[in-house]
Amino acid sequence: MSQNIPPPLPSLVPDTAPFSDEQRAWLNGFFAGLVSLDGFGVTPISGDQAAALINGGATNAEDDDGGAPWHDQSLPLTERMQLADGKPMRWRLMAAMAQQDCGQCGYDCKNYSGAIASGKEERLNLCVPGGKETARMLKTLAEEMKAAPPAVKPATAAAAEPAPPVAGAPGRSRDNPVTASLLSRRLLNKAGSEKETWHVEFDLSASGLDYTVGDAFGLFPNNDPALVDAVIKALEAPPDFPIGGRTLREVLLDSVSLSPAPDMLLQLFSYIAGGERRRKARALSVGEDPDGDAATLDVLAAIEKFAGIRPDPEAFIEALDPLQPRLYSISSSPKTAPGRVTLTVDAVRYDVGARRRHGVCSTCLAERLPLGTSAKVYVQKAHAFGLPADPSVPVIMVGPGTGVAPFRAFLEERRAIHAPGRNWLFFGHQRSNCDFFYEDEFQAMKADGLLTRLSLAWSRDGDEKFYVQDRMREVGRDLWAWLADGAHVYVCGDAKRMAKDVEAALVDIIVQHGVRSPEEAAMFVADLKRKGRYQQDVY
Ligand SMILES: Cc1cc2nc3c(=O)[nH]c(=O)nc-3n(C[C@H](O)[C@H](O)[C@H](O)COP(=O)(O)OP(=O)(O)OC[C@H]3O[C@@H](n4cnc5c(N)ncnc54)[C@H](O)[C@@H]3O)c2cc1C
Ligand SMILES: NC(=O)c1ccc[n+]([C@@H]2O[C@H](COP(=O)([O-])OP(=O)(O)OC[C@H]3O[C@@H](n4cnc5c(N)ncnc54)[C@H](OP(=O)(O)O)[C@@H]3O)[C@@H](O)[C@H]2O)c1
Repeated sequence: MSQNIPPPLPSLVPDTAPFSDEQRAWLNGFFAGLVSLDGFGVTPISGDQAAALINGGATNAEDDDGGAPWHDQSLPLTERMQLADGKPMRWRLMAAMAQQDCGQCGYDCKNYSGAIASGKEERLNLCVPGGKETARMLKTLAEEMKAAPPAVKPATAAAAEPAPPVAGAPGRSRDNPVTASLLSRRLLNKAGSEKETWHVEFDLSASGLDYTVGDAFGLFPNNDPALVDAVIKALEAPPDFPIGGRTLREVLLDSVSLSPAPDMLLQLFSYIAGGERRRKARALSVGEDPDGDAATLDVLAAIEKFAGIRPDPEAFIEALDPLQPRLYSISSSPKTAPGRVTLTVDAVRYDVGARRRHGVCSTCLAERLPLGTSAKVYVQKAHAFGLPADPSVPVIMVGPGTGVAPFRAFLEERRAIHAPGRNWLFFGHQRSNCDFFYEDEFQAMKADGLLTRLSLAWSRDGDEKFYVQDRMREVGRDLWAWLADGAHVYVCGDAKRMAKDVEAALVDIIVQHGVRSPEEAAMFVADLKRKGRYQQDVY
């Protein structure tokens, strides 16, 4: 067996330490992330050491996140808030975030909440995956902060406070975008597909932007003019109504979100409407759902629901959320495509009643942005998602659907630098005959040996769903052997279910082929994560 695989572990927390079985199990998993599992002869720690480690080396209770058990994107908000109950405000704020560390807010979850707690960030609506639920909870917590007597600042608080977002160099953050023009777009699905996924290419040559594989590309979309016109019509307002030196229509096109109707808008409606409609608008604005349609109310649907109340256009715009940029995993290597960047974009479209809804940014890229025109863009550096520094290290990449994007970039990069390490890609999608993105490229990579292995999973080819993690389980023995050889594992794509299921499959594989208990296998994966050998880019 390779030295990359440690023997099954002893319990790190001794039986005499003052913890319940449940606490001991949790602590064993937690310490696995702190104690190196590489070598042999790991020494169990004392109860005192455990207590010290629980504080994570923090110098005061304010800094102690207790291992941030809420930092799990698959937990519902109520559960996350319960886990942070009684903790200092910055951790409760963090628990309100969607826990994806996706970077869309310009921070990660911990630093966004730290910035709000320290008063350096006032915007409470930046967590895109958390949506209204997160924004609402942040607002409640912010009101609690305001009502609380000013806390005595602990001596170390300054060190713990995150730096405010720095606009930085042009094109390096959402606060300082540059422009890049759209070069091309090509549909990746073939006839018969239920999906609409585009390979989109931007010209970066005039922007001065560069990037590294693993980074994401940020884009500021425009709203669909047809939707904007429908909103203006429903408002019964003139399109050229002046707002801050621009027209109502211009502001609606590029500055405000027309997706979920924000609480502020519903509150505005509650001030204007009368009787039963006032009560309903008020209820909706505080998160209640009197008619069971709250989840489907975008701005247009909300205006239509309260038709005829005709708010002042300026007050209406004030009540809307700003239009936020969206991030896309970069699917090219700058070494293969200098001065260009490519993305793999699934066009979000779904029906609510008689109206088709269109994801604002994905459909902007799919159809509305004309070729040769520019968009506001930036490169979002990956936090901890990138190829191993040593090009000889084997990599296992798991990317169903658009999750394959960064792995196309990884493979291009490994080819360009003549990396000797082995490459194994797990790709999956609905149907083999129409949803095999980049099929020719991947088959060519397989044929010329760049892709050592290509494992595919088609969820709708057969009668039963078959996913990438099912394929992983089938070849679990080989996966374990790659891990034993020091392979790094990467997962990209859906955060809500896929990422969790893939991790569970890896734990199962380690139990079966690594001959470990489920607890030890979970510790093993925790240790892979700590060492940067298990990296995720999920959304
Ligand atoms: C780091 C990162 C990398 C990413 N990489 C990629 C990538 O490579 N490719 C890619 O395609 N996306 C990627 N995304 C997702 C991308 O940023 C956008 O979230 C996605 O394109 C949708 O944005 P939109 O503006 O088109 O849709 P929006 O206007 O934001 O609409 C999406 C919202 O519509 C609602 N919705 C969607 N489908 C339904 C439905 N069936 N029924 C009811 N409601 C629904 C949901 O509330 C959803 O949040 C990435 C995200 C992150 C954070
Ligand atoms: N809101 C949701 O519930 C949801 C779910 C998936 C994706 N998304 C979002 O949709 C966007 C685009 O998605 P995409 O085009 O990349 O494709 P996708 O919808 O994620 O689908 C890619 C493949 O993954 C399969 N899949 C579904 N559930 C899975 C699971 N638990 N484990 C492993 N594979 C699973 C799908 O199968 P089947 O579709 O046949 O089941 C499909 O074959 C992303 O923004 C993603 O976050 C949202």
